[in-house]
Amino acid sequence: MPLVHLLRAARRLMRGNTPPITEYPLETERRLNELHGRAPVDQHLRVLFHNDVIGGENYVDLYWRCLHETKTPVTPFNLFHRFQSRRDLVRYFLATLAVPGARAECGVYRGASALLLAHAWRSAQADFRGKDFYLIDSFVGTSVSGKHDLIPVRGDDGMPRREAFFPVAKADISPELVRGYFGEFPDTTLCAGWIPQVFATLPERDWSFVHIDVTLYEPTLRALDYFYPRLNPGGIIVCDGSIFCPGAKKACDDFCDQRKLPFVVLGNRESVLIKQPTGGGTAMARS
Ligand SMILES: C[S@@+](CC[C@H](N)C(=O)[O-])C[C@H]1O[C@@H](n2cnc3c(N)ncnc32)[C@H](O)[C@@H]1O
Repeated sequence: MPLVHLLRAARRLMRGNTPPITEYPLETERRLNELHGRAPVDQHLRVLFHNDVIGGENYVDLYWRCLHETKTPVTPFNLFHRFQSRRDLVRYFLATLAVPGARAECGVYRGASALLLAHAWRSAQADFRGKDFYLIDSFVGTSVSGKHDLIPVRGDDGMPRREAFFPVAKADISPELVRGYFGEFPDTTLCAGWIPQVFATLPERDWSFVHIDVTLYEPTLRALDYFYPRLNPGGIIVCDGSIFCPGAKKACDDFCDQRKLPFVVLGNRESVLIKQPTGGGTAMARS
């Protein structure tokens, strides 16, 4: 038997039944799915968000409606993450309503969060029908994972190895399907294609709010590269976070570190940047 196998076997013996010290993402998901699967989830959501109203409708009711209308699957694990992170997303979104510029979501999937934002927009502007709202996605699924996107998983021998979490181009969506969910907002623009190439189809203009939720390092970085210079001062970019998306987090860290941009990280690993005034230059002048 090669020495490395002997060493691993010895380690296994020494470990005995002791649970692993490090919990890897798939193990966390399994544990919380089990735990939250037994909990009265809706009761928890009502306690957390009973005071949150958007356009006269309770936030929990509205977001449930968006999830149902778009047939977005949720699991006990990601449910709290979704309700908490989307509440913060709406707050940041509403905070940019006075900032000039269009708004976008990169990484739309079935459109649940974009639909929530459209309702939030209409709560502040009664005649809003989707104008200046851009939904950008391949609409066929995720691109190829790179080295920053791999997550640690425990092998059969107990040793960690790194694997891609997201399969390539495997989503059950299409632009037509998602368009059908935006009947109340017919002026919404859907942009179908891979990031970054799809950005060439956008009008050259300024922006006030961008939600980047594309799960991987490369498209997250490319979206930041594209939108940040075009963002008006006071504009906000929210990069979604997840234990399955180390690359997306690193992309935001790298982007901000290189430019010394201040940003915050919220409870579900979302990174949020508010563009600071640059001393008079316009967004289109590229800071
Ligand atoms: C996590 S889902 C978005 C979820 C959505 N924001 C929501 O809240 O329901 C990620 C989306 O990113 C898209 N995506 C991933 N990589 C992409 C790329 N390189 N270009 C365009 N879209 C991409 C996938 O098609 C998928 O729909």
